[in-house]
Amino acid sequence: MKNATAIVVAVSLLSLIQTAGAQDSAQLLAETRKTALPVLPKVVHAMQTAVQEKGPVAAIAICKEQAPQLLQELRQQTGWSIRRVSLKTRNATTGTPDAWEARQLAEFDIQVANGAKPEQLEIGEILTADDGQRSYRYMKALPVAEVCQTCHGPADARSEALSAALAKDYPDDRANGYRVGEVRGALSVKRPL
Ligand code: HEC
Repeated sequence: MKNATAIVVAVSLLSLIQTAGAQDSAQLLAETRKTALPVLPKVVHAMQTAVQEKGPVAAIAICKEQAPQLLQELRQQTGWSIRRVSLKTRNATTGTPDAWEARQLAEFDIQVANGAKPEQLEIGEILTADDGQRSYRYMKALPVAEVCQTCHGPADARSEALSAALAKDYPDDRANGYRVGEVRGALSVKRPL
């Protein structure tokens, strides 16, 4: 009888913990989205305006300076790690994914190949590292829009001036050949718990 009671208590405790966990991750997801996502349409809009009004060479500054600057401000406000990652980077120093991020990016590509819309792809997970440190990790896919193709589409479709400007700063550029509707990379957030 004692044993049975112990099991019942253990099982209810477990389901309590699981419910708490579920609430936790739903809350973390909502909070992370609310904090990190508003920056994305701002960058896309700034890019569209810059390409239209100043031309592609001058618009490089949006992806190179303005987007990193906005993410830097978000990092300072939140204390979270927030960055852009990709499986084919232009700037490998800042954009190379870790193992977890690379797996999610590959998963996003598989989902798109199976008909999913890139703008709907995201993942949030509570992870425990080997040293016991818990973190909340979140990734949101960055879809290739029409304007992105100017600098991330087929390299041979670019003007000489644009090719030269990109080649000068990015000799190991791999962020080419993308088409509208693919996943260019992701916004990646890591929050210590
Ligand atoms: C005018 C040229 C240009 C356009 C248009 C452009 N990008 Fe970029 N993009 C760049 C450059 C240059 C970098 C490298 C920035 C750096 O040094 O960190 C970059 C880097 C990135 C990165 C960081 C990962 C990496 O490969 O280094 C992402 C993600 C990205 N771009 C997504 C986009 C998306 C999405 C669009 C369309 C909304 C877009 N870009 C449009 C020039 C451009």
